[in-house]
Amino acid sequence: MDEYAIETEGLTKVFRSRWSKRELKAVDDISIRVPRGTTFGLLGPNGAGKTTFVKMLLSCTHPTSGRAKVFGRDSQEPEARRPIGYLPENHRFPTYMTGWGMLEFYGALSGMDSASRRRRIPELLNLVGLDERAHHLRLGKYSKGMLQRVGLAQALIHSPRLLVLDEPSDGVDPVGRKHIRDVLNGLEREGVTIFLNSHLLAEVELFCREVVIIQKGKMALSGTVASLTSGSGYKVEALGVPESLETELRSRARSFRSVEGTLELLFASREEANWAVDRLRASHCELESLARTRSTLEDVFMKTVDGPISGVTAQ
Ligand SMILES: Nc1ncnc2c1ncn2[C@@H]1O[C@H](COP(=O)(O)OP(=O)(O)OP(=O)(O)O)[C@@H](O)[C@H]1O
Ligand SMILES: [Mg+2]
Repeated sequence: MDEYAIETEGLTKVFRSRWSKRELKAVDDISIRVPRGTTFGLLGPNGAGKTTFVKMLLSCTHPTSGRAKVFGRDSQEPEARRPIGYLPENHRFPTYMTGWGMLEFYGALSGMDSASRRRRIPELLNLVGLDERAHHLRLGKYSKGMLQRVGLAQALIHSPRLLVLDEPSDGVDPVGRKHIRDVLNGLEREGVTIFLNSHLLAEVELFCREVVIIQKGKMALSGTVASLTSGSGYKVEALGVPESLETELRSRARSFRSVEGTLELLFASREEANWAVDRLRASHCELESLARTRSTLEDVFMKTVDGPISGVTAQ
């Protein structure tokens, strides 16, 4: 059995303009491995190449070079794509179809017989939180959030082992997002591999185990969410700090802030935080708090996309 649900080697896509002869490397030499059963996030600013990457994975766009494998098979083989469920970005399902009708259509395209479709469709519509009324309402009358939910049901119709979701929470309100997350968590527990693109970093942080950040088509950072967001520093808050001591402490702090008599200092290491506490207590300053801080995925993302592309790996 293959260890990886997705494996890419040097996947590259160059778009060439017919008129200006200009070239754009939308995806540049990306090699990643997504273990089976994991939740994996592909992040990057607008235009970074996320959708192009996904389209190559699904063989909707042909790579200029490199290759992609799904459960050990080259994704250009139609059989390799059978276990994939896909929710595209900006999908446009036919508006004259009802939610039920659309799932009938996609279920049939996936080769499901009518008895299995009849069983699966109401089950899925309920799972994604669409009530009875919505089952027979035309998609043209669906709200954005309802369309994302029915889109997710479409991706799940044939019980895929790999779910590829391009911006699954786009246009969904916070309650709906939580619901979608719960549905995905349930699938993860069943062993489904989930690969998603998203701009919602807090969501990705809550949901994904591993992430890759790409920028201008290149891989800028990869690692587990836990390793990327852990151990960023120690925050010390103190009151009544004399000016000379404040200057001394600030010189060793990574950052500082002074608000209405409270000095907040962020130190990179435990040793430095302990040194600061010793200095503060020696001067009879009052400690307000001492806490270990984590960086959020958003902090990591902002540092990565603002900084140089260095190909750092944190595992
Ligand atoms: N068919 C195409 N022809 C030419 N250029 C394209 C084509 N598809 C995408 N691009 C370009 O490739 C780059 C990457 O686009 P892509 O849609 O993959 O980005 P993205 O990371 O998904 O962005 P977003 O977050 O906005 O969805 C962009 O500069 C885009 O204009
Ligand atoms: Mg995109």
